[in-house]
Amino acid sequence: MNTDRKATLTVDGKTFEFPVMSGTLGNDVIDIRTLGAKTGLFTYDSGFLSTASCQSKVTYIDGDKGELLYRGYPIEQLAEQCNFLEVAYLLKSGELPDAEQKTRFESTIKNHTMIHDQMAKFFTGFRRDAHPMAVMVGVVGALSAFYHEALDASDVEHRSVSFNRIVAKMPTIVAMAYKYSIGQPFMYPRNDLDYTANFMHMMFGTPCEAYKPNPVLVRALDIIFTLHADHEQNASTSTVRLAGSSGANPFACISAGIACLWGPAHGGANEACLQMLEEIGDVSRVDEYIKRAKDKNDSFKLMGFGHRVYKNFDPRAKLMSKVCADVLSELGLENDRLFKLAKELEKIALEDEYFVEKKLYPNVDFYSGIVQKALGIPTSMFTCIFALARTVGWMTQWEEMITDPEYKIGRPRQLYTGSIHRNVLPLAKR
Ligand code: SDX
Repeated sequence: MNTDRKATLTVDGKTFEFPVMSGTLGNDVIDIRTLGAKTGLFTYDSGFLSTASCQSKVTYIDGDKGELLYRGYPIEQLAEQCNFLEVAYLLKSGELPDAEQKTRFESTIKNHTMIHDQMAKFFTGFRRDAHPMAVMVGVVGALSAFYHEALDASDVEHRSVSFNRIVAKMPTIVAMAYKYSIGQPFMYPRNDLDYTANFMHMMFGTPCEAYKPNPVLVRALDIIFTLHADHEQNASTSTVRLAGSSGANPFACISAGIACLWGPAHGGANEACLQMLEEIGDVSRVDEYIKRAKDKNDSFKLMGFGHRVYKNFDPRAKLMSKVCADVLSELGLENDRLFKLAKELEKIALEDEYFVEKKLYPNVDFYSGIVQKALGIPTSMFTCIFALARTVGWMTQWEEMITDPEYKIGRPRQLYTGSIHRNVLPLAKR
């Protein structure tokens, strides 16, 4: 790491130097780890707009160019040429698998898709109308109660076993959450189906008849998984890293990531976006909602628009829009009301000076709700699908954190603005 360059800070007439670190791509950083000790000062960066929390080799995002690389490969090429498990292998190992490695990895995952049969009982503790993300937080966290013989984070084999287990079991758990919510029996995984086809079988199949997944729809959902697999240090990934930094087991960390992803400002945006489109209802009402989105006194935000990093287009939104068109065409829904409304909303917003000035473009969540609805996935399940895919990134980032020789428990400080020291008065004198 080249640190010849220095940043200087002068405070109250005293000057301090800090190394400037350069990575292989993207912003350089000022190494301020000694700032507190040297100056007695902390940095203040609420929301971490200018803070690099770690060094990482996994995913690179260029917000100005609208570029997303997984281990150096452009998302466009991965979405077109690979399947989700190849991408999972790439994220975890750092390299795309060759034919033999791909076959072996797919077989390993296939043979971990069942969950301990006793775990099925967890679902009955939830109301049928519980939000499936609440169920996911609970059941995924409980995995560590069943698979506790391979949770030693310092053991590379244990980390691989945990990675394979949770990547394999997430589709089963997500499908069980869905089946439970609609009162249908759980469907066991089938080893004659590939990963995403198997997931669709567990979601939409029933014991009453054979389920034949539509290959066009399977491919579309597989691409959606790839688009959601990882995304640098987003809120839920940072949650997983912070939870993992205390030594918590990986399943507990993933459960924390699921909880964070649930928020409408993050992974919950696809569900919120579809609800917003349903509420807008018709192109004639788009201007009313654009006006609300621009109104400082109105908390309404255009769901599926804007991004902390992308200040140009989100490359995933472009790919998602194409997947959406392909699925609607396959299903004869080219004139889908919501898709047409979304296209019109996107066109109007991108021509509006407020959105142009604030660089607000559609993000990955804008079209994902429409395509998932067309695939037959209910709105409440959208973020579960996101969590299923992002588990690969979360586990990869967790492992990178836990194996970083510099890793410490994450413990941010604060700018205290509360009461200064004062003494408790006896009750009679308060
Ligand atoms: C994901 O981080 C990741 O990588 C996340 C993610 C991933 O893969 O992990 O990409 C997935 O979370 C995508 C984002 C999904 N969320 C939404 O679509 C919800 C709607 N978007 C906004 O909530 C917002 O754009 C965020 C949360 C996405 C980004 O928030 P920032 O970076 O903190 O920006 P901000 O809220 O400070 O907005 C900057 C300005 C503000 O106006 P001013 O205070 O400067 O006047 O833009 C405005 C905001 O009011 N603004 C919007 C808006 N998004 C931002 N105004 C209207 N509609 C919007 N959608």
